[in-house]
Amino acid sequence: MIITVKNIKIKNGKELTLKSPLPEDAQNLLNHLKIVASQSYQNMNFPKNYWDTFPVEEEAKILTDFSASPSKFMISAFDGDRIIGNLGCFGMGGDFLKFNARIGMGLEKEFHNLGLGNFLLKYAIEIAKKNNFHRLELSVRTFNLPGIALYEKIGFRRIGVLKEIAFIDGKFHDEFIYEMLLN
Ligand SMILES: CC(C)(COP(=O)(O)OP(=O)(O)OC[C@H]1O[C@@H](n2cnc3c(N)ncnc32)[C@H](O)[C@@H]1OP(=O)(O)O)[C@@H](O)C(=O)NCCC(=O)NCCS
Repeated sequence: MIITVKNIKIKNGKELTLKSPLPEDAQNLLNHLKIVASQSYQNMNFPKNYWDTFPVEEEAKILTDFSASPSKFMISAFDGDRIIGNLGCFGMGGDFLKFNARIGMGLEKEFHNLGLGNFLLKYAIEIAKKNNFHRLELSVRTFNLPGIALYEKIGFRRIGVLKEIAFIDGKFHDEFIYEMLLN
C-alpha cells in the first residue's frame, strides 16, 4: 500500500515528510535501519549488525512487495532526503485474522522525544482505519519507558506480559503486549 504524503512539524520546529518508502529508497532505508540498530537494538527485533550486510536488492524487493500489498504499509519520516524514522504496519493473514495488524517502529536518537513517534503512530491508526482494519497490536520490552509512555498516551491498552520472550545479550526480557480496537 502506498500512503498519502503528509508534512508535519515536530517539537523543535523541524519540518518532516511522512511517506511510503519506495523500492528506490531501499539504500536510504537500510542506512536508517543501521543507525537505529546501532543505537537501540535492545528495543528492536534484530541484533546490532543485522542490517550491515543486508542486500539492498532484498530491501528493494521488500519495498516493492509493500507497495503492492493491500494489507501492509510503511511510513517513513524523511528529513529532507534522509529517512530518520520508520513505522511498519503488517496485516495478519488468514480469513479469520485479516482485520488485525501488528505495528513496529523506530526512530534515530536525534529525533526522540520530539513528538515524531506520536505523529507516526496517529497517522498509522488513521490509515489502518481507512483500510478497514479492526484491531491493532504491538509489543514493547518492559524496560522501554519512552515506548510505553507513547503507546499508553495514544490509547493502546496493555493486555498482558509475554514472559522472557526476548533473549538479548545473554539475558531473557519480558514484553508488554498492547492492543487497540478501531471503530
Ligand atoms: C519509542 C519511540 C518510537 C518513541 O518515539 P518518540 O518520538 O520519542 O515519542 P514521542 O516524543 O512522541 O513521545 C514519547 C513520550 O515518552 C515520554 N518519555 C520519554 N522518556 C521517558 C521515560 N524515561 N519515562 C517515561 N516517559 C518517557 C516523553 O515525555 C513523551 O511523552 P510526552 O509527549 O507526554 O512528553 C522512540 O523513542 C524510538 O524510536 N526508540 C528506539 C526504538 C524503539 O524503542 N522502538 C519501539 C520498539 S517497541
